[in-house]
Amino acid sequence: MNTRFLDACWGKPVDIVPVWLMRQAGRYLPDYMRVRSKCTFLELCKTPELAAEVTIQPVDILGVDAAILFSDILTPIEPMGMELDFTPGPVFTKPIRTMADVEALKIPKMETDVPYVLDAVKLLRKELAAKVPLIGFGGAPFTLACYMVEGKGSKDFAALKKMMYAEPEIYAALMDKITTMDMEYLNAQIKAGAQAIQIFDTWGGMLSPADYERYVLPYTQRLINGLNRTNVPVIHFVKGAGTMLEIVKEAGGDVMGLDWHVNLGKARDILGDMAVQGNLDPTVLFAPEEIIEREVKRVLDENAGRPGLIFNLGHGILPTVPPEKAIFMVDCVHRLSQK
Ligand code: CP3
Repeated sequence: MNTRFLDACWGKPVDIVPVWLMRQAGRYLPDYMRVRSKCTFLELCKTPELAAEVTIQPVDILGVDAAILFSDILTPIEPMGMELDFTPGPVFTKPIRTMADVEALKIPKMETDVPYVLDAVKLLRKELAAKVPLIGFGGAPFTLACYMVEGKGSKDFAALKKMMYAEPEIYAALMDKITTMDMEYLNAQIKAGAQAIQIFDTWGGMLSPADYERYVLPYTQRLINGLNRTNVPVIHFVKGAGTMLEIVKEAGGDVMGLDWHVNLGKARDILGDMAVQGNLDPTVLFAPEEIIEREVKRVLDENAGRPGLIFNLGHGILPTVPPEKAIFMVDCVHRLSQK
């Protein structure tokens, strides 16, 4: 088993900097499209054998140092009682708008309501045993609330922000319920065998630092504190957090995910001993090889040999990236960081 990824999460020295890519299983891979052409996205998430197959594809094709469970941050929201579709972005037919809507949400029983997620984790642990560690994941309460209240993707998630400012008691009740669900969901993944957990807060960075501290931090903090994390590192990725890293750090977690708007070295100066993950601009993978190599080297140089680096993109890989460019980037990280 290649343990570079877990070692780096704990800040231990490694022979070569580990690398994986957010959204590494997906539409840019012809192998994924072959599996996906036979079923819907949700059917793929709900069939452990297929979910395991597409989880392993990037491990074999790209040579990355970790696998991330194939699922979606919104999978556990459906059994809370919200009808969900992907077109390909998520759509909830009946968004949450009132206190009655919040009260009607159920806390799923993970073993019976999302058995396919836990079965995929168990299956993957067997299939990955001689390869790489498995990362489980969930959305941060705030990002989940964004989709549940807006009902779909949005530029500004104004419906959620309106609730947050104008109906704070509904917002608090919703966030509280999501946090409880999320804790049980991630603990169930850990129990099933997930070796690390990543929390995705894709939209947390659209708030001012003061609003992040008031409206988001307490919930993510409670979530991370409630995880059974002995031996399971927690990666906290808040996109757009570059101007408030010291506040986001208070949420806890072992590794801070960074997007490409920050200089990785400066972020590390602010974060102290905390390990980091990031932070190449995902569109660099459209560039010629020399530019990809230059940008990988720049990020490694910003890190300046400090332990506790997991190389990644600063956000998910885009569906139109040529797979050869992703393979080349992974190879650059391994080659240029070799001691
Ligand atoms: O990283 C991986 O390879 C694991 C799988 C994974 C998916 N979604 C599969 C997926 C992970 C970790 C996610 C997380 C996720 N889902 C986030 C947080 C990360 C981020 O990118 O910001 C968010 C906000 C979602 C919600 C979501 N699901 C959106 C906005 C979309 C549409 C995006 C798009 O690229 O079109 C999805 C659908 C989705 N989730 C797809 C995949 C592979 C595409 C669905 C398809 O195959 O048709």
